[in-house]
Amino acid sequence: MRHLISPLDLSLEEMDYILTLGQKIMEEPEKYAHVCDGKKLATLFYEPSTRTRLSFEAAMLNMGGKVLGFSSADSSSAAKGESVADTIRVISSYADICAMRHPKEGAPTVASMYSEIPVINAGDGGHNHPTQTLTDLITIKTLMGRLDNLTIGMCGDLKFGRTVHSLINAMVRYTRVRFVLISPKELQIPEYLRKEVLDAGKIDYIETNELEKYMPDLDILYMTRVQRERFFNEEDYIRLKDSFILDASKMQYAKEKMYVLHPLPRVNEISTEVDKDPRAVYFLQAKYGVYVRMALILSLLGLDEKKIFKDSV
Ligand code: NCD
Repeated sequence: MRHLISPLDLSLEEMDYILTLGQKIMEEPEKYAHVCDGKKLATLFYEPSTRTRLSFEAAMLNMGGKVLGFSSADSSSAAKGESVADTIRVISSYADICAMRHPKEGAPTVASMYSEIPVINAGDGGHNHPTQTLTDLITIKTLMGRLDNLTIGMCGDLKFGRTVHSLINAMVRYTRVRFVLISPKELQIPEYLRKEVLDAGKIDYIETNELEKYMPDLDILYMTRVQRERFFNEEDYIRLKDSFILDASKMQYAKEKMYVLHPLPRVNEISTEVDKDPRAVYFLQAKYGVYVRMALILSLLGLDEKKIFKDSV
């Protein structure tokens, strides 16, 4: 049985398989309308979410499956003190696969140790968010036609942003990928990523607080929200929250073929005037997230193309 806790749980070949399957589903979604008939997905969300939870649910519903779950810790037995281990033991007999979001780093790993069904990490604290990474990768692959030979700017809260951590971990496996890490000093990437991933892998990267200066070099600009809920005090958040605001004047410095991604939700970091720029693809990215989650669910359930279409081939 497979789980997805970190993007590195998938080999490069498995990752490419899921992205390619996601693209096939995108082209012919109706072909997959019944591939999960009779299957159930549980969404166990101990932290707020709009896109991740609903895109998981849409993914399962699109394939004929059913969904059950909760969308806040308050509405589950966690509020009574139940452990994640006990919850997952029970959910294992209610569903075939589950997606879990939790404010504590490592909670989905604990769940996977007690689970009898595949566990997908839908975001654990400031740590990882592998299905957002799959969403980011399918967007880049579809729009740029490749995942190698790219200069990727990441801007905003690189310290607490779990989507940033997972995306860096996944992208360093492709060749000639260069990072421009744009943040205030206090919100730079965690030390373990710098040392164990970037330095150890001899990856080309720079850390800076200048967005305009590096804008002309970028193929992708990955904007992120300052993660208010992970700050220890509100004053620091208020001081740092508007460090970078992408607006139309800054977009003038970008290449014609440069795409702006954002995992969403956006607060102030991208001015709404940028939305009409054809290079702003964050809403399209959210849409692609459904297709790639469909592909992931199929893979983790062991439903490969041969198996699901055995009657028609
Ligand atoms: C992200 C998350 O939850 O980490 N959102 C998402 O899943 N699309 C990013 C964020 O909350 O800023």
